[in-house]
Amino acid sequence: MSQEIYAEEIYVARPSMPPFDEFIEEIGELWQTRRLTNMGAKHKKLEEELRRYLHVKNVSLMVNGHMALELAIQAMRLTGEVITTPFTFASTTHAIVRNGLKPVFCDIDPDTYTIDADKIEALITDQTSAILPVHVYGNLCEVEKIRSIAQKYGLKVIYDAAHAFGESYRGTGAGNFGDASIFSFHATKVFHTIEGGAVCFADDEYGMDLYRLKNFGIRGQETVDFIGANAKMNEFQAAMGLCNLRYIDSEIEKRKRVYEQYVKRLTGLAGVRIMKQQSDVKPNYAYFPVIFEEKEFGATRNEVALQLQQAGVYARKYFYPLTSMYDCYHGRFDAEKTPVALGVSKRVLTLPMYGELEEEEIDRICRIIKHTGKR
Ligand SMILES: Cc1ncc(COP(=O)(O)O)c(C=O)c1O
Repeated sequence: MSQEIYAEEIYVARPSMPPFDEFIEEIGELWQTRRLTNMGAKHKKLEEELRRYLHVKNVSLMVNGHMALELAIQAMRLTGEVITTPFTFASTTHAIVRNGLKPVFCDIDPDTYTIDADKIEALITDQTSAILPVHVYGNLCEVEKIRSIAQKYGLKVIYDAAHAFGESYRGTGAGNFGDASIFSFHATKVFHTIEGGAVCFADDEYGMDLYRLKNFGIRGQETVDFIGANAKMNEFQAAMGLCNLRYIDSEIEKRKRVYEQYVKRLTGLAGVRIMKQQSDVKPNYAYFPVIFEEKEFGATRNEVALQLQQAGVYARKYFYPLTSMYDCYHGRFDAEKTPVALGVSKRVLTLPMYGELEEEEIDRICRIIKHTGKR
């Protein structure tokens, strides 16, 4: 047995926490106001602060990123088919299907893992109403190409920006692209509210619809004119967000250090492909995906994952399988039609990535990887 087994366990993510006393102070007044949810003062304040931080016109907070996406789609009143990618988390595809729409899967770019914008047009039919691309691992999609395709065919665009918090492209905040962008503030994300999410958008009327949709479709005391959901962020979540937002720049800076340490140790290793940072993008270092090429590396992604796991390191096959291959969609989609996505999903492993990951832990992870390749 390797002595690595006796070291502490390392998970793929570890939520950042604000100083305990600060959170207690932030929630203290809730014992007086007793306003615990329903768009209270903290909810309003967090929306304002996020608007400033993300440099977007409007932010509508939600209970989680998934409901943000479901309601962003519903408020857009889409019909028929939505072009998207299967190389994503369950949420993206489920949100389309749960809105009664048909996902049409486009392949991905082999370097950024985001939708291959050059393959979108061939998938457009008279049923297509929107494009729903994903900024995978914080890599931003080809937003300009996607915008011009959408304009040419009169399509809506909703970005799944769950991984792209705090990023910008040529100085424009990631939440400004398309008709709407959604963020996830799940505990494992760069910025979190325990569970939480938001929709960013420019159109105020669309914002009114979102507001009603997250509160049962209620327009007024006696008028309910939308089949809404309950997707309100509560005050405790918002308080966590207010605290975490004070530390977000230092969290991203810490992640940058982790990123650089991984790069230093893994660069040049035969058969190990590290994700490049995009030029023109201010990154957030949300994930550290690695592609393992079996022939050159000498081991498969699955073997690496297993060796890490046996040493108490829980990396993640993220995203595997493709959403189009899920059991719940059995027989409905053909993964062979997105061969690049299929290949990446079989070879990718996201390594532990969070601000507090220690240099010795990064050493330990990289040692196991190197050792697995040599066996
Ligand atoms: C790409 C993507 N979309 C949507 C979501 C859903 O967000 P949440 O977990 O906040 O509901 C996630 C969350 O992990 C995600 O990774």
